[in-house]
Amino acid sequence: MRRSAYPAFALALLVVATTGCSSWYNDVPSPDNLLAQVPWFDQMIASQAVFPYSRLGIPRNTPPGTVPVTGGEVDWSAEWAVANTTTADQLLNPTDGVPSARGDTLYHTFCAVCHGVAGAGDGPVGPKVAAPSILTPRAIGYTDGYVYSLIRYGRGIMGKYGDKITEQDDRWQVVNYMRQLQAAVVQPAGGQ
Ligand code: HEC
Repeated sequence: MRRSAYPAFALALLVVATTGCSSWYNDVPSPDNLLAQVPWFDQMIASQAVFPYSRLGIPRNTPPGTVPVTGGEVDWSAEWAVANTTTADQLLNPTDGVPSARGDTLYHTFCAVCHGVAGAGDGPVGPKVAAPSILTPRAIGYTDGYVYSLIRYGRGIMGKYGDKITEQDDRWQVVNYMRQLQAAVVQPAGGQ
C-alpha cells in the first residue's frame, strides 16, 4: 500500500509544478467585478435594514374585518373588555355538557389554585387575590358562554386563560366541570 502511493504522489507533484497552483484561479472573476456587473449588490450594503418581525402590526395580525376561512375563532375581546356580554351570552356550548376527565384535569391545573379543588374559592392563592367562590347563585346563573368568555379573556384581577387553554373544546370542558362542581352543592341544599 505504502509503496504504491509514491507514483501517484509524484505525478501530482509534477502536475502542480508544471501547471502552477494559480492558473485556474486567474480565470475566476473577482468579487469586485461582480459588484460592478450587478449594480444593486453594492446598493444593498448601504440600504436600510428591514426587521419584519419588530413591528407587531405586520404581518401576523389579520386586518380588521378578515373572515377566517379555516375555522378560526372570532374575537369578541373588545366587547368583553367593556362588560358587554351580548356575544358571550349568545355562545352555545357545543359539547354534550357531560363533565370529562379532560375538564377535571384542566380545572385542577389552572383554576383550583385560586378557586379551590371544589370551587369554594379556597385554593392556596384564592384569599390573596380575593378569588370568589364559583358555587354562588351568581356564578351558577352565568351562561355557559359567559364562563367560556371569562376563561378565554379573564375579568378584573383574574387573568386570561385563553392563551393557556388554547383549544376551544378544552375551555368548554372546563365550563362543564365547573357546572359539575356547582351541581354537587346545589343538589344537597335543594334536597333533590
Ligand atoms: C389567580 C387566581 C385565579 C385563577 C387561577 C382563576 N381565577 Fe377565576 N377569578 C379570580 C378572581 C380574583 C375573580 C374575580 C374577578 C373579578 O372581580 O371580576 C375570578 C372570577 C371568576 C368567576 C366569576 C365568579 C363570579 O361570581 O363572578 C368564574 C366563573 C371563574 N373565576 C372561573 C375560573 C376558572 C374556570 C378558572 C380556570 C380556567 C379560573 N377562574 C382561574 C381568580 C382566579
